[in-house]
Amino acid sequence: MKLWGGRFTKATDRNVEEFNSSIQFDCRMYAEDICGSIAHATMLAKQGIISDFDKEQIVAGLKNIYEQIEKGEFEFSIELEDIHMNVEKRLTDAIGEAGGRLHTGRSRNDQVALDTHMYVRKEIASVAVLLANLQEAIVKAAEKYSDTIMPGYTHMQRAQPVLFSHHLMAYFSMFSRDFKHLSYVWDITDIMPLGAGALAGTTYPLDQPYVAELLNFSTLYDNSMDAVSDRDYIISFLEFAANLMMHLSRLSEEFILWSSSEFKFIELDDAHCTGSSIMPQKKNPDICELVRGKTGRVYGHLMGILTMMKGIPMAYDKDMQEDKEGLFDVIDTLKFALAIYTAMIGGMKVNDRHMREVLENDFSNATDMADYLAKKGLPFREAHAVVGKAVQYCLQQGKVLQQLTLQELQEMSALFSEDIHHYLDIETCVSQRQTYNGTAPASVARQCTAGYNVIDNE
Ligand code: ARG
Repeated sequence: MKLWGGRFTKATDRNVEEFNSSIQFDCRMYAEDICGSIAHATMLAKQGIISDFDKEQIVAGLKNIYEQIEKGEFEFSIELEDIHMNVEKRLTDAIGEAGGRLHTGRSRNDQVALDTHMYVRKEIASVAVLLANLQEAIVKAAEKYSDTIMPGYTHMQRAQPVLFSHHLMAYFSMFSRDFKHLSYVWDITDIMPLGAGALAGTTYPLDQPYVAELLNFSTLYDNSMDAVSDRDYIISFLEFAANLMMHLSRLSEEFILWSSSEFKFIELDDAHCTGSSIMPQKKNPDICELVRGKTGRVYGHLMGILTMMKGIPMAYDKDMQEDKEGLFDVIDTLKFALAIYTAMIGGMKVNDRHMREVLENDFSNATDMADYLAKKGLPFREAHAVVGKAVQYCLQQGKVLQQLTLQELQEMSALFSEDIHHYLDIETCVSQRQTYNGTAPASVARQCTAGYNVIDNE
C-alpha cells in the first residue's frame, strides 16, 4: 500500500514505478530529510499540533533511521518513490501512529524544497573551502616562482615577457570572482521553504520562523507558491559551477600545452599524470584533459535544468524532480576538480631556464624597443615602424633585437644609444611595467599579499 494509495484501485505499473522513482539518487539527501523532519516535528509539538510524546517518538525513530542509513543497514525501496517516503514509511512501521502524524501541515513539495535547500547549502560550504584551498595553492606557487619570467601570449603568439607568478595570479583573480558568485548563491539558497505546504500554505498554526531558526536559515520565502516551485538557487549554483569550470578548463588547456615537449614550461608531478598502455615514454596530463572535458558536462547540466524549468506552470510539477541528478553530478565533478587541481599546482615543477631561453631567442621585447624610442621623443607610431623594420632585418640575419650592434641600431634611428641593451633585457621589460595591475614584481607581490587577505575573508 502506497502512502498516497487511498483513492487508487490498482497497483502501480512496474515500469511507471521505476520511471517515477527518485530514490536511486535523492537518497543522498537523507541527512537533510531527517534533520528537516526533526525540526518540523519539534515545531508541531511546540505549537500543540502534536503531543510531546508523539514528538519524542518521532525524533527517536528518525535518529534510529539515520543511524541505520549511516551504517548501510537501511534498504531503500523503489516502491516508496523517494527519500521522503522511504523515511516516513520506515518511521511509521517502527513507531506506529505517531509516525503518521509527522506529515501534518507539510507536503512533499515543501519537504523536497527544504531538503534541497539544505543540501545545496551544505555543499556550498564544502565547495567554498575547496575553492579557497585552490586559491591558496595558487598564491603559494606564485611566491615560490616569483623570479620566473615567461613569454606572455596573445593569439597564441609570443607577445611580451611576464612574470610566471603574474600569469598564475590572473587565475587567482578569476577564482575570487567565482567565490563572490558563490556567496550570492548562498544568499538565495539560505531561504527556508517549509510551511508552504503543497502550494498555498496550510491551515495549521505553524511557526515557520522557529523552523528557520532550528535549521539555521536566515529568512523565509514571502510567497508559498514561489517557495515550492522555484529552482533558481540550483540554477545559480550551476551557473557558478559553469563559470568556475570554464576558468579551470582554460588553466587545463594551458597546463596541457605547457607540459608538452613543444613548450616544456612545466612538469606535472607523476602522482597527477597517467601513462600509455602502448607507448612506454608517455606521461599524459589526463586530469587536465578530464577537467576540460567535464566542463562540457557541467554546461550541459546547467542547460538541462534551465530548459526543464522554462515551461513549467505554477506551482510544483514533477518535472522538477529532474533538478537533482545534474546538480549532484556537478557537485561531485567540481569537488574532485578543485581538490586535484590544488594538489597538482602544489606539485608542479616550473622550467625556469627553458622559459628564459625561449625569451632570449624571440622578439617579446620589441614593444620595449619602441617605447624606448617614443620616450626619446619619436611619435609612438613611427617608433613602431622603426622596430618593425628592425625585426624584419633580424629575421633576415637570423638574429634577435638584443644582438644588434649599436652601429646597426643607429642606422635605423639616431635616437638609439648605449643604454638600449639594458632596456631590451627581459628583467627590465618586466620590471618597467609598473602600472597598478602590471607584471612588475612589486605589483605581483601586492597581488599576493592582497590574495592572502582575500582568502582570510573567504
Ligand atoms: N521526489 C519528488 C521530487 O524530487 C518529491 C516531491 C514530490 N511531490 C509530489 N507531489 N509528487 O521533486
